[in-house]
Amino acid sequence: MEICNGFDFNIFNESIEDEFPRVKPAEITVLWDQVLGKGGFCSVHEVSAVNCHLTDDEVSSEDQSTKNAFGFQNKQYMNEHYKRDGHTRYAIKKLSNSNYEQGDEHFVHGIIDLALETRLLAVLRHKHIIKMRAIADVSDASSPDYFIMMDRLSETLSSRIVQTWKKENNKLFAKKKKKIEHLVTRIGVALDICSALEFLHDKNIVYRDLKPENIGFDIRDDLKVFDFGLCSELRRKDLVIGSDPATYKLTKECGTFRYMAPEVEMGLPYNQTADVYSFAILVSYICNLELPFSSFNNFQIRNNVHKGKKVRPKINKLYPDRLKKTIRLMWDADLSKRPSMMQVRSALNESWLHLIDDHIGGATNGGILDISNRTELSLRDDADKLETLKSNTPYTEQTLRTMESRSRSGSSTASCDEQMPPVQTVRV
Ligand SMILES: Nc1ncnc2c1ncn2[C@@H]1O[C@H](COP(=O)(O)OP(=O)(O)O)[C@@H](O)[C@H]1O
Ligand SMILES: [Mg+2]
Repeated sequence: MEICNGFDFNIFNESIEDEFPRVKPAEITVLWDQVLGKGGFCSVHEVSAVNCHLTDDEVSSEDQSTKNAFGFQNKQYMNEHYKRDGHTRYAIKKLSNSNYEQGDEHFVHGIIDLALETRLLAVLRHKHIIKMRAIADVSDASSPDYFIMMDRLSETLSSRIVQTWKKENNKLFAKKKKKIEHLVTRIGVALDICSALEFLHDKNIVYRDLKPENIGFDIRDDLKVFDFGLCSELRRKDLVIGSDPATYKLTKECGTFRYMAPEVEMGLPYNQTADVYSFAILVSYICNLELPFSSFNNFQIRNNVHKGKKVRPKINKLYPDRLKKTIRLMWDADLSKRPSMMQVRSALNESWLHLIDDHIGGATNGGILDISNRTELSLRDDADKLETLKSNTPYTEQTLRTMESRSRSGSSTASCDEQMPPVQTVRV
């Protein structure tokens, strides 16, 4: 599979970032005591009100649009629409307060992840990728007040699996048709994730932390992938010369053990197929509704999944053959055997239609699934991610030094999931 397109390009585009509304901490009301979620470094809180000060230029007359030339909501829009049908519309993500107490090193890594996430969310536009709406108007991106404001999600995939799908499935016992109907719904969700990953891979980005805790649903039940702090661009300077398929020297142990591809854990060169592996483990969870490797700790995953017997989750015999075959290829220990996300989408789509035709007998929408909504982004050639961050963000000297040493050392960035303590407590 061809991974590298032969060109180095940089997705970051600070001119687009400049178009985002800047919101001062005092202009929003945040429910600090209600944490919507917490990850390794950040916490996410609901924004209960938006009251941005508007300059004369920012007050639009009635016939003017409340979106700017890039289609971003402006401050006036946010002031007027921070609630929709009685539900709050926005959430902010910021470094957890505990990070400021855990010493500089930890703090700096949190800042870097959030800064990279800001850069990426500013340019990524896809139906199944969370939308950033505003950036904190603070003098220094490493300020404790720094945040990004995004659409608020109603539920994560991990909670959907545990709270809804498992319970539904347990009630169904022998009702095969119903079970298949539910499986069809779940494969539809997997297809949405697939389209987001395909989009990222198309832009030469590897996501690296695919797991149910980083996927959610908005109020309309549209799936959104979020948490882009561990993404990386595949750059020519990291390419392993002569590798076929092309692989890159990238950070070791980046992501979450349960879903982490063996080569990532072992510190070997890798490429976008690391996400394909993670997607396979996630698809098995979505299909089987059993947490993969639930009896293993990280050490056992290393010895039994990544090495040794290369244990994998069970595949239900009743699934369509193409689905079974594709899952086996996706989690192959040999990354060169893994399909591209485009091939995965085609296989999943076919299995989805097959299940509908054979077991449910419903209309299949002419065999076409509208699962992608990509737009062409303005991409800038030949720039370096770190350089971009350095040149455009007001970091302190110390922050920059640590960023540089991290980028040189290629140290690990293990994340954690809800069910398992991480091997590394620090994502660096
Ligand atoms: N836009 C959002 N709306 C509601 N909850 C969210 C949103 N973004 C994240 N969360 C919750 O916060 C948790 C942590 O957010 P995440 O972006 O994954 O942070 P981290 O980078 O620290 O892992 C998520 O697992 C989820 O439960
Ligand atoms: Mg997360």
